Amino acid sequence: MTERSVLVLLGPPGAGKGTQADRLSKSVGIAHVSTGDLFRGHLSANSSLGRAAKGYMESGQLVPDDLVIDMLFDRVSKPDCEKGYLLDGFPRTVAQAQALERRIAPPWRQRAIEIAVPDEVLVARISGRRTCPKCNASFHTVSLPPAKPDVCDACGGALVQRADDQADVVRKRLSVYREQTAPVSVFYSQRGLLTRVDGNLPPDRVFEAILGWAQNKKAG
Ligand code: AP5
Repeated sequence: MTERSVLVLLGPPGAGKGTQADRLSKSVGIAHVSTGDLFRGHLSANSSLGRAAKGYMESGQLVPDDLVIDMLFDRVSKPDCEKGYLLDGFPRTVAQAQALERRIAPPWRQRAIEIAVPDEVLVARISGRRTCPKCNASFHTVSLPPAKPDVCDACGGALVQRADDQADVVRKRLSVYREQTAPVSVFYSQRGLLTRVDGNLPPDRVFEAILGWAQNKKAG
């Protein structure tokens, strides 16, 4: 990745966007911005934005575009995003992708990576996910267990299952993804900005593929 790049991580719920964004951000030293984590922070703080987003998130629907776009643009105006940033969970509608495109003027550039994973694997991943409400670290009961059950390796916080990781809400999130977010991949593909990686591999292998692609871009 070059400086002043925006890298968009696309993929369905449970594809591994957060897992890979966290690794990539530490490896290449750029900010990781997750709209889901931003909303969960607002929910915990019981802010007016958190209260506005709560019902949508708990039922697996998307938060309205205007709320998401304002929150995201405010976040990426912070100094840690001056050299570039990774977007995890945004854009999720074509209207959000268009708003981001309007904001990114040369020398800034954007690219998108889609992490592809079959539906049956997604459900197993989401049902085993455990997250830390204190530091946002993510684990999996089978593929990435913490050293001590239900205790965060990073900060010692108590791990929880996300409210929207219940089976009926997951089904809703997957159908919302197909209807509203899959067209975002087409948006980037039509502009020649999309790369797909196989996400149905162990996390280290997926990371190698993404890092290899990012280093290639830097060299090029
Ligand atoms: P958000 O938090 O963005 O949820 P999501 O996109 O549904 O994505 P997930 O966090 O479920 O999955 P992920 O791809 O990050 O997977 P992870 O790495 O955790 O959004 C939540 C809600 O907020 C939305 O439903 C919506 O209401 C609202 N929202 C957010 N952004 C919005 C927007 N832009 N517009 C409107 N509304 C918005 O991995 C999952 C599990 O699998 C983990 O346990 C992990 O350890 C494990 N795992 C990861 N990779 C692998 C692997 N390769 N092999 C085995 N296990 C793996």
